[in-house]
Amino acid sequence: MSLSIRHLLGLEGVSADDISMILDTAVSFKEVLSRKIPKVPTLRGITIVNLFYEPSTRTRISFELAEKRLSADTVNFSASGSSVSKGESLKDTVWNIEAMKIDMIVIRHGASGAPHYLTTCCQSTVINAGDGAHEHPTQGLLDMYTIREKYGRLEGLKVVIVGDIKHSRVARSNIWGLLTMGAQVSVCGPPTLLPVEMEKFGVRVFDDLDEALAGADVVNILRVQKERQKAGLLPSMREYSRYYGITKNKLKLLNDNFTIMHPGPMNRGVEISSEVAEGPYSVILPQVTNGVAVRMAVLYLLSGGKGKVYEE
Ligand code: CP
Repeated sequence: MSLSIRHLLGLEGVSADDISMILDTAVSFKEVLSRKIPKVPTLRGITIVNLFYEPSTRTRISFELAEKRLSADTVNFSASGSSVSKGESLKDTVWNIEAMKIDMIVIRHGASGAPHYLTTCCQSTVINAGDGAHEHPTQGLLDMYTIREKYGRLEGLKVVIVGDIKHSRVARSNIWGLLTMGAQVSVCGPPTLLPVEMEKFGVRVFDDLDEALAGADVVNILRVQKERQKAGLLPSMREYSRYYGITKNKLKLLNDNFTIMHPGPMNRGVEISSEVAEGPYSVILPQVTNGVAVRMAVLYLLSGGKGKVYEE
């Protein structure tokens, strides 16, 4: 059992077979996580460095937990407090860390393409934990896992992604992954936050929220980044909330058995009301729970499938 990719840099171009293998393997790891002792020796002897050049709560803790549940040795690196503040380059930083004998690097970086760059100059397996506005593949995978867990499939489901599509790595990974798996994907946001020629991705594009939501199964709501307002891309957060905020009265436009998702962190009262975020149809916390199992699956499969999923 192995993937056809050596690194996980994004979901663009990743095959349906590889995505299915990751999601299926994550089902087994979710079972491991429900055990009294939620730990297996699968990655014993493997050393993983979590290299975070940007802030993170969910992704960082989720990767660290996934690594510990698999019995890997883990080291956490933050750019702040490291020699990056003395001007050390990404390449020199990674070469020095690799000199201490590591196997895998999980990297979050503000620059799109930083994980890909590492694959050209280092030996380790690289996993993208979010790079600039490019991709956040494990978020896309855990979102797909969560949808599939509820509906038993991805094919044919209508998924709407609402918010700042232009600057969202979560949107890109969801779009590539969901389209590969046969879902129908729409995006919706203010015209200033929609990339030009977005239709070429193979998605439907809306700037009217009601039209986008009509008949949808899943709504994935993105965080509105306040710096977009400073950059003149949004008139005000209040106006954004009025036209694109998901409140309870919008939910009647959706299909029966609809699902509300958000990758976090949320701006309650801006892109999503508290009532919606905490409603019975919300899977926002199950997304976080599933993230650990999905990341365990990614780490296990990219490690070359050493060890056994079920080993007790
Ligand atoms: N979803 C997500 O990437 O959250 P963090 O920025 O907290 O990791």
